[in-house]
Amino acid sequence: GEVLGLEGTAWNLSAAVFGDDLVALHSSPYAPPTGGIHPREAAQHHASVMREVIARVLPAAENLQAIAFSQGPGLGPCLRTVATAARALSLALDLPLVGVNHCVAHVEIGRWATGFDDPIVLYASGANTQVLGYLNGRYRIFGETLDIGIGNALDKFARSHGLPHPGGPVVERFARDGNYIELPYTVKGMDLAFSGLISAAQESKAPIEDVCHGLQETGFAMCVEVTERALAHAGKDEVLLVGGVGANSRLQEMLREMCEDRGARFAVPERTYLGDNGAMIAYTGRVMLEHGALLPIEESQVRPGYRADEVPVVWRSEPGE
Ligand code: ATP
Ligand code: FE2
Repeated sequence: GEVLGLEGTAWNLSAAVFGDDLVALHSSPYAPPTGGIHPREAAQHHASVMREVIARVLPAAENLQAIAFSQGPGLGPCLRTVATAARALSLALDLPLVGVNHCVAHVEIGRWATGFDDPIVLYASGANTQVLGYLNGRYRIFGETLDIGIGNALDKFARSHGLPHPGGPVVERFARDGNYIELPYTVKGMDLAFSGLISAAQESKAPIEDVCHGLQETGFAMCVEVTERALAHAGKDEVLLVGGVGANSRLQEMLREMCEDRGARFAVPERTYLGDNGAMIAYTGRVMLEHGALLPIEESQVRPGYRADEVPVVWRSEPGE
């Protein structure tokens, strides 16, 4: 049977049906008219397209078994809109609910899409920048940003120069024609911080191409350093890149080179599964359902600060089992 998954932690309302493979996927991204994402406006967007987005995938299911939704982390109003729809579907169709951690879902769909078994994961998105790896029943967070996610950092920089949202792809295009300039590099232990880098980039008088180039080289080198150290520390031999910033070809290249030097393998899932999408929720929900990880409706309140390491990963066996 299949599971229907609903994702809507931030800018994208997306629904999917996942069986043995992806059956149907439909997304409705919210683009803020100006500035960044306002949580209540994004939630209103999600509510206004909810019926249509679900209706685009639901008929593709032949034997639906459960309703999965992204329980957190994310923007409170967006999460509540999605959870309300998931509960309504669960009651109307008399199907169990599965509450999926958004970060874990990025990792699981990435493993499915690449065939990697036990990778160190660089999860680089708008709101998140984390390095994760599986150890003793949990996804451990080896290192993470102490301030903002690298994607939001790039978006903020682009906005300050009057460039369109999302900023990541715009910065990538400028960076191709630029030369390296030095900008502040901040790695503290295993953690990262981007606000110093962004302020310095915003204040720089260098040509925009050079600032974008320096911004990418510095921000990505920070991510690669923490990923490399987690790889060495955990003794793993695969690196998986997930999250919207994973679309960046320079970041991919830098990780691939690091992996080659260490004799590790590198992979990045295809675009469909990289940024926020309903398929990752439906897929992870199905794996959780198979292992009995259901969510009673009275425990289905949203979890805006839900961390990956709070999730008991009951669906993965220990090495050697
Ligand atoms: P999360 O809730 O996991 O933090 P998100 O809501 O930020 O996710 P994603 O789809 O994972 O959504 O990522 C969006 C981010 O990816 C944006 O900040 C955008 O600028 C960035 N991005 C997209 N394409 C590129 C690119 N080519 N280079 C760099 N950044 C990119
Ligand atoms: Fe995400």
